[in-house]
Amino acid sequence: MPERNILIDRYGRKHDYLRISLTGGCNLNCSYCRPPGGTDLPGETGRQGLGDDELIRLVRLFAGMGVRKVRLTGGEPLLRRGIEKLIERIAGIAGIRTVALTTNGTLLDGRLPGLVAAGISRLNVSLDSLDAGRFREITGADFFPSVWRGIETALAEPALELKLNTVVVRGINDHELADFVALTEDNEFTVRFIEYMPFGDNHWQPDRLVGWREIARRIGEIFPLRQQGRQGVTRLYSVEGFSGRVGFIAPLTGCFCAGCSRLRLTADGRLRLCLHDRNELDLGAMIRSAAPDAHLSGAVLAALAGKVQGHGRSAGSRADGPGVTCMSSIGG
Ligand code: 5AD
Repeated sequence: MPERNILIDRYGRKHDYLRISLTGGCNLNCSYCRPPGGTDLPGETGRQGLGDDELIRLVRLFAGMGVRKVRLTGGEPLLRRGIEKLIERIAGIAGIRTVALTTNGTLLDGRLPGLVAAGISRLNVSLDSLDAGRFREITGADFFPSVWRGIETALAEPALELKLNTVVVRGINDHELADFVALTEDNEFTVRFIEYMPFGDNHWQPDRLVGWREIARRIGEIFPLRQQGRQGVTRLYSVEGFSGRVGFIAPLTGCFCAGCSRLRLTADGRLRLCLHDRNELDLGAMIRSAAPDAHLSGAVLAALAGKVQGHGRSAGSRADGPGVTCMSSIGG
């Protein structure tokens, strides 16, 4: 496998990271992520999801162009039947070095050993509250105990790099910041606070957003934070003497577009170059019309040449509303 990466856009950004949504379906109903009735899931729109073989074909194609890391997302990716086999196949593709998974954690317990054996080395669990009642209010389901069991199982896997993702929403969970940070005292994971982003009809309001500097300042009043540098899009910190780390992801107040290395694939095979750009390349449709690999890769390179510089919409993209209709179809 040549080390060459040809997925470079006109701003010199090298794309070696592919995020794949395995299903638009989810067993939780977080309003900031999945607005009721506002989804564009395959099935609901009559669109067909990519089958395993189609997906493997695309990952192979992207790996040939320079992709080295794949993250499986959803919806909830563990709802996809046969995900273990799929992980094993992706991990076996020449060039792919890392297979990661982002999950809501509800189905982790019991599944984790199989996922790790199949090739998952990095795991992100989304968790917005440490209080079972509030968890139910946010997600619409009583799964806090299952998620917590899943996290504990993951912590017991020495080879697994674990992160918790917490979307901070003012008035909903911002009083829990210190509780999350306190978890890093004895647990060797990273707790990452994510700024609440507007998508379609997800009830976003400017006063609900807590910017990363405010989050860091409020934590700093309780725990002294030490800067550790950057890790991808994350500003990394830790509390002196604690085993874990604290991260901030600031898509709104701390633009990180210059370092973007991400490509995204929806469950029905549409390639998105930016989370906030509604323009997409329908690779699924091309596959179904029997396009050869050379056509697919040519179309990817042509699309990448038009990737926007910052969060926003490219010319010709639909101008009505934000770029992403709902997070649950694209998985972050
Ligand atoms: N703003 C910020 N993060 C979000 N996520 C889902 N919806 C939003 C939003 N509106 C997060 C999930 C998950 C990650 C993939 O994206 O909580 O951790």
